[in-house]
Amino acid sequence: MIILDGKIASQAIKEGLKNQVQSIINQGKRAPHLAAILVGNNGASETYVASKVKNCEEIGFESSLIRLESDVEETKLLEEIHQLNNDEKIDGILVQLPLPKHISEQKVIEAINPKKDVDGFHPVNVGKLVQGLETFIPATPYGIMLMLEHFDIPTKGKHAVVIGRSNIVGRPMSILLSSNTKRGNCTVTVCHSHTPNLNEICLQADIIVAALGKPEFVKADMVKNGAVVIDVGITRVEDATAKKGFRIKGDVAYAEVASKTSAITPVPGGVGLMTIAGLLKNTLQAYQNNNA
Ligand code: GUN
Repeated sequence: MIILDGKIASQAIKEGLKNQVQSIINQGKRAPHLAAILVGNNGASETYVASKVKNCEEIGFESSLIRLESDVEETKLLEEIHQLNNDEKIDGILVQLPLPKHISEQKVIEAINPKKDVDGFHPVNVGKLVQGLETFIPATPYGIMLMLEHFDIPTKGKHAVVIGRSNIVGRPMSILLSSNTKRGNCTVTVCHSHTPNLNEICLQADIIVAALGKPEFVKADMVKNGAVVIDVGITRVEDATAKKGFRIKGDVAYAEVASKTSAITPVPGGVGLMTIAGLLKNTLQAYQNNNA
């Protein structure tokens, strides 16, 4: 069994990006610039956005963090996005999700210029993804594809079972794994909360991508010997013995599943780090597209 270590894979990608940024700067050009908008103070979102900003700094990107109160009016948020769209020194824009209930996520996603949509959530970019055109691939599925590439995990002809159908992970993941590409070419089954016989379906999987957000949902009796297991879960579970008062749990019961697999991602230290690598790659791509 090999551990698909996100630290190793993301570090390799970040080193490559760092060198590319250095060569841009050596040519006297400005660095790529990512703008992140964070609405309110959801603890998990704070952590993710802080990590995105820190990683930008590490590889030499510029970054701006725009913080808005949780009761900010939708029009104010849309106005912020409009300004970033029109700022030619901003290459990538992301609005951390989820947003407070009074704000339409769809309206916000559609307000971002697709050329700066480094999350790949805009319908224009999702359409391109579905058609196999070049676009910004949503960061988590992109990170998983980069992870498969880094560890040279074969996918052609395999049966992949994706648990979860969110626009952020499950749906784009199923498209990528089924596409006619080097790391695609799987037969993909998408399962969700209304799937009967989930256990039996998972048992047929050569590759399982667990992205449903339920801690330790995937148990050993759902996993075929030798399967590859990708755990996208990052739920905070209260734990008084932990320093922060919580622990991060994946969607896979790692302790009982790992020994059955041929390869598995740990949580933390797996997919989460790859998500950032995907976002950084998209931001450099946006910079290159907009400065071509
Ligand atoms: N919330 C959870 N994952 C993501 C992501 O990849 N991008 C944004 N913007 N919000 C998220």
